[in-house]
Amino acid sequence: MDAVSKTSPATAKLSVGEQSWDLPVLSGTIGPDVIDIGKLYGQTGMFTYDPGFTSTASCESQITYIDGDAGVLLYRGYPIEQLAENGDFLETCYLLLYGELPTAAQKADFDYRVTRHTMVHEQMSRFFHGFRRDAHPMAVMVASVGALSAFYHDSTDISDPQQRMIASIRMIAKMPTLAAMAYKYNIGQPFVYPQNDLDYASNFLRMCFSVPCEEYKANPILSRAIDRIFILHADHEQNASTSTVRLAGSSGANPFACVAAGIACLWGPAHGGANEAALKMLGEIGSVDRIPEFIKRAKDKNDPFRLMGFGHRVYKNYDPRAKIMQRTCHEVLGELGIKDDPLLDIAVELERIALQDEYFIERKLYPNIDFYSGITLRALGFPTSMFTVLFALARAVGWIGQWKEMIEDPGQRIGRPRQLYTGAAQRDYVPIARRK
Ligand code: CMC
Repeated sequence: MDAVSKTSPATAKLSVGEQSWDLPVLSGTIGPDVIDIGKLYGQTGMFTYDPGFTSTASCESQITYIDGDAGVLLYRGYPIEQLAENGDFLETCYLLLYGELPTAAQKADFDYRVTRHTMVHEQMSRFFHGFRRDAHPMAVMVASVGALSAFYHDSTDISDPQQRMIASIRMIAKMPTLAAMAYKYNIGQPFVYPQNDLDYASNFLRMCFSVPCEEYKANPILSRAIDRIFILHADHEQNASTSTVRLAGSSGANPFACVAAGIACLWGPAHGGANEAALKMLGEIGSVDRIPEFIKRAKDKNDPFRLMGFGHRVYKNYDPRAKIMQRTCHEVLGELGIKDDPLLDIAVELERIALQDEYFIERKLYPNIDFYSGITLRALGFPTSMFTVLFALARAVGWIGQWKEMIEDPGQRIGRPRQLYTGAAQRDYVPIARRK
């Protein structure tokens, strides 16, 4: 990707004591301008300090745009609401990877290519059998996705565009198979091979919920719901796991290893693990009348408890994905005839109270996508331990798309942040006999 940002006529002025420097300002298509500090150290001998990267753009990207204040999420310029309403997940994958929506012929070809790669090397099943049955499926995913690089040697040469594309297709195609295998292994049922005449979501549901001794027919409403969940999670610009994938990839590591690193990062409860944590929290709250007690705890600075599924680093307005997820949640519960889900009652009431509470209003803490996705996935039949796995499955396309974009950027360099050192200054070694 050639840089397309424009140098703005404006410059930023940095003054330290008597000295001052002009720094270039760059403009993208939309969104805030950025101050280019790439030469700052050479010019000033100083670094910038930004723990958590709250004010730092780490790369130039053309894939996803978020306006957190306005609650906007665009994939390649298209609003998430329109993609989730009208498209399917593989169309979104094509869009994220190639930059444009596919024509009918391109879509058919892409679906065919993904479908042809759904099986995993038979030896992979032996690999699974090395795990304890009660291993967390995310642990199994980190290992098995990393292990793909041990099985697909013909798509690990990152300098070959053809291999990069095959790796991308393989990643999208094999994630559902590996995720379903992680689930089946955990519950002690036989692995189910993919069935390529099914659509992506139905195939995944079948691999998870069918058994060899019975016919399985995926419910189209539930397949559509899971497909929409995948679309909503497909990419989210430079979040923690995507930045992890980019950082790992910046050293030239192969794409499967990089995505395994992304999965490890996603696992944390402040990121992808939040839907699992949100559902556990609803269970812990237990009944609507206990909500005030938990709201009080969330506000107490001396209590580490936070309302899981609330707040977002970027969305300081309603998460646009949460709105779609809330509707999908009701569609799934309606289709399955779940009228009285106590956890849903708690969720609705918790949201109502939190949205009226000064603490949450002041801090712009709104329910995020994870708040409703946990309830939906549970209704679909997934155990909580699988929630983050489904997130990883969907995000794989974002990770690989961002990785590809980075590798194809001629200006790409190894990622190497600096630090503000506050440890001991240089001192001499003391022999052990003389230490006090
Ligand atoms: N419950 C109670 N208070 C909260 C919460 C919460 N969920 N989130 C933030 N706050 C408070 C926080 O204590 C701080 O208060 P104060 O200004 O008085 O010190 C203020 O809001 C700002 O919080 P922050 O930690 O500086 O915000 P952040 O941008 O660093 O953190 C977050 C974002 C998502 C990690 C955080 O809101 C959180 O831990 N939420 C719960 C976990 C969660 O749902 N994560 C899913 C994120 S969405 C999925 C994804 O993209 O991965």
